[in-house]
Amino acid sequence: MGSYCCFSLLFSATIVVFLAYPILADGKKQTTGPAVTVTKHLFFSDFRLDDPKIVHEVKLLGSARFSDEKGAIQIPDKSQLDLRHQAGRAIYAYPIRMLDPLTGTPASFETTFSFQFSNSSAESHVDSTGGYNNSGGSGLAFIVVPDEFTVGRPGPWLAMLNDACEDNYKAVAVEFDTRHNPEFGDPNDNHVGINLGSIISTTTVNASDVGVYLKDGLTHQAKIVYNGSRSWMEVSLGSKPIFSGSLDLSPFLNEYMFVGFSASTGNMTQIHNVYSWNFTSTSQASLRAPSAETCESKIMEQYDQGIQSSASHSSKKEPPNSLLIFICVMALAIAVFASLFYNGRRRNNQTKAVILPDKRQRPRPPNKPRRFTISEVSSATRGFHENEILGNDSKGIYYRGKLPNGCQVAIKRFSAQFLSSQIGLDRRRLLKEISTISRVRHPNLVPIRGWCQDNRETMVVYDFYPNGSLDKWLFGAGVLPWTRRLKVVKDVADALSFLHSKQLAHKNMKTTSVFLDVSFRAVLGDFGFVLSSTESQRFEATVSQKADVFEFGIFVLEVVSGRGRLESELRQEERDLLDFAWRMHEIDEKARLVDRRMGSMVNLEQAIRVSEIGLLCTLNENKGRPCMEEAVEFLNLDGPIPELPPNRPVALFPYSSNNTGLCTGYSCTLFK
Ligand SMILES: *[C@@H]1O[C@H](CO)[C@@H](O)[C@H](O)[C@H]1NC(C)=O
Ligand SMILES: *[C@@H]1O[C@H](CO)[C@@H](O)[C@H](O)[C@H]1NC(C)=O
Ligand SMILES: *[C@@H]1O[C@H](CO)[C@@H](O)[C@H](O)[C@H]1NC(C)=O
Ligand SMILES: *[C@@H]1O[C@H](CO)[C@@H](O)[C@H](O)[C@H]1NC(C)=O
Ligand SMILES: *[C@@H]1O[C@H](CO)[C@@H](O)[C@H](O)[C@H]1NC(C)=O
Ligand SMILES: *[C@@H]1O[C@H](CO)[C@@H](O)[C@H](O)[C@H]1NC(C)=O
Repeated sequence: MGSYCCFSLLFSATIVVFLAYPILADGKKQTTGPAVTVTKHLFFSDFRLDDPKIVHEVKLLGSARFSDEKGAIQIPDKSQLDLRHQAGRAIYAYPIRMLDPLTGTPASFETTFSFQFSNSSAESHVDSTGGYNNSGGSGLAFIVVPDEFTVGRPGPWLAMLNDACEDNYKAVAVEFDTRHNPEFGDPNDNHVGINLGSIISTTTVNASDVGVYLKDGLTHQAKIVYNGSRSWMEVSLGSKPIFSGSLDLSPFLNEYMFVGFSASTGNMTQIHNVYSWNFTSTSQASLRAPSAETCESKIMEQYDQGIQSSASHSSKKEPPNSLLIFICVMALAIAVFASLFYNGRRRNNQTKAVILPDKRQRPRPPNKPRRFTISEVSSATRGFHENEILGNDSKGIYYRGKLPNGCQVAIKRFSAQFLSSQIGLDRRRLLKEISTISRVRHPNLVPIRGWCQDNRETMVVYDFYPNGSLDKWLFGAGVLPWTRRLKVVKDVADALSFLHSKQLAHKNMKTTSVFLDVSFRAVLGDFGFVLSSTESQRFEATVSQKADVFEFGIFVLEVVSGRGRLESELRQEERDLLDFAWRMHEIDEKARLVDRRMGSMVNLEQAIRVSEIGLLCTLNENKGRPCMEEAVEFLNLDGPIPELPPNRPVALFPYSSNNTGLCTGYSCTLFK
């Protein structure tokens, strides 16, 4: 156990350094020590859960499970009712060094794994009453990806990529594809492809040519060997070599990457099983000499130098950003052109056209918000089935739903209690509030697709985020690195500041209202839609905005400390997070607030500064609470922030009525 802890600490340290690098300042002179070889070896003879290392070391994302009876990773998770359009990943939980940034040389690696695709009808306890075709899913891919959080899109995307081009999502994959998607340049429904940052394979090989039928239900063994210094890759299936050629992976690699498998289903399904897996990598590095300075600043400084010198050493390390953006823009342009062309005249199948998959897999285009009928919403959630419940709170229940066009949505069904607590039960005002908010768009706000209201129900239909809400990531088993947390805080601050600039307020600011998109950007949803007694909308907005800032302050403390605002299992004096944070401020021990699980590699100074900004936001609104715009400035600039009072104010309220003589239904009922 002890050694496991050290191991994870070491790795979380590397993750933090790795994730921290874009925000580090300029480095100084270059010092490199003697060369060392960094190797990593993984070996899983099966994936049975009686080996505790499996759960610690293999992280499942999306629709994936461990099958104890088969001792395999299975994608999709066959316990789901509908196996169509599923995407899942199984990733080795710790980053692996895949590139020497000093020289731009990729690591050499070798991996073997055995896999089998089986008919989902034979596997599934649910028979194919859905009437769907269960004799062919989309396929499996061995992936090298930049993070352990993202799941790609289902269908022909093999859960390998998503369309977050703007976030520069690099990925390298070797796919074992069992669907023929001519729009992606597939030769047939039985091929192996090599994908470099794109769903369109750089190279494809017809597996039938070597007598292998991926879908034949037999167990196949694949071997991938890459020589980084030679830029040479070899792939074999069974004992037969199927590809060998020159391939430069370096533009698609970060220094640390995650390796594993992804698979998906489309409108046809199958179960992708991975039975065993070997992986070994070797890379060159320069020993970084220790010094008298603190370990933390030293490592960061040297990291900078590494980045700087790699920039000067090898100019070919520069282009990936602009190159990827260029590829994306070109792909998009071609796609638009091709789909126009296709719709115009549906012939000429010679064209190697690149079209995006059908609409149902595009999570993006936010259609104009509209009214949904009760029966639409009911059939989307399978009659509000309990298996579709994503979460609930005092205001209602959150359901997952699927529209007839295949789009996944999240539906908030307000409880009768909440609705009746609304002033005067004025449904028209509530609806107006919903439609007003649904008109605002911001990259960090969850788009509203529509609403549904009759004389008993009020529901709001949002876009669905498969990565789930922040609380799961923050309070779950894994540890969010500091740089991710900082980004989440900034994203949410941007969203709130934007809402406030439109004279609107969120009114439900908490960790469960923050969702993570496929590229791990934070988006704020689950709006409160609380009505107040006051008729003056402007006044109501001002009050609610101030309450938002207060709640944001507590949210920031939750993110920094990795714990909820009220935790009953903690000691009495630590239970209430806000109270605890102020007390730590009083005795100048704010470091104790910072989530210990992040290890020693958190940027402590930054974390303390952010928690101070959080505390500022909880000051009473006439005693120094900033507005959201100011909070955004504090977060983005390194300048000084206003000083906190030395002692905890006697009482803290989201909105106190004493300066106006007025009391809104909102702040009085919720926070007294
Ligand atoms: C993994 O590697 C070991 C030793 O190199 C070998 O004996 C074993 O067969 C390999 N397993 C797989 C699944 O490739
Ligand atoms: C499923 O699809 C395959 C390939 O398109 C086809 O050969 C097979 O007949 C289909 N089966 C059913 C039950 O529709
Ligand atoms: C793949 O190989 C098989 C067997 O050699 C052949 O029949 C088939 O036409 C090939 N498919 C393509 C698209 O080349
Ligand atoms: C899967 O089902 C298809 C038709 O439904 C059949 O042709 C194929 O042999 C089956 N494969 C396995 C591995 O059972
Ligand atoms: C890669 O290729 C080079 C040159 O052919 C060779 O010297 C080296 O040993 C190879 N490395 C690995 C890990 O196979
Ligand atoms: C699956 O989708 C494709 C393209 O959208 C369509 O051509 C095909 O007929 C569908 N297959 C089944 C079995 O529904």
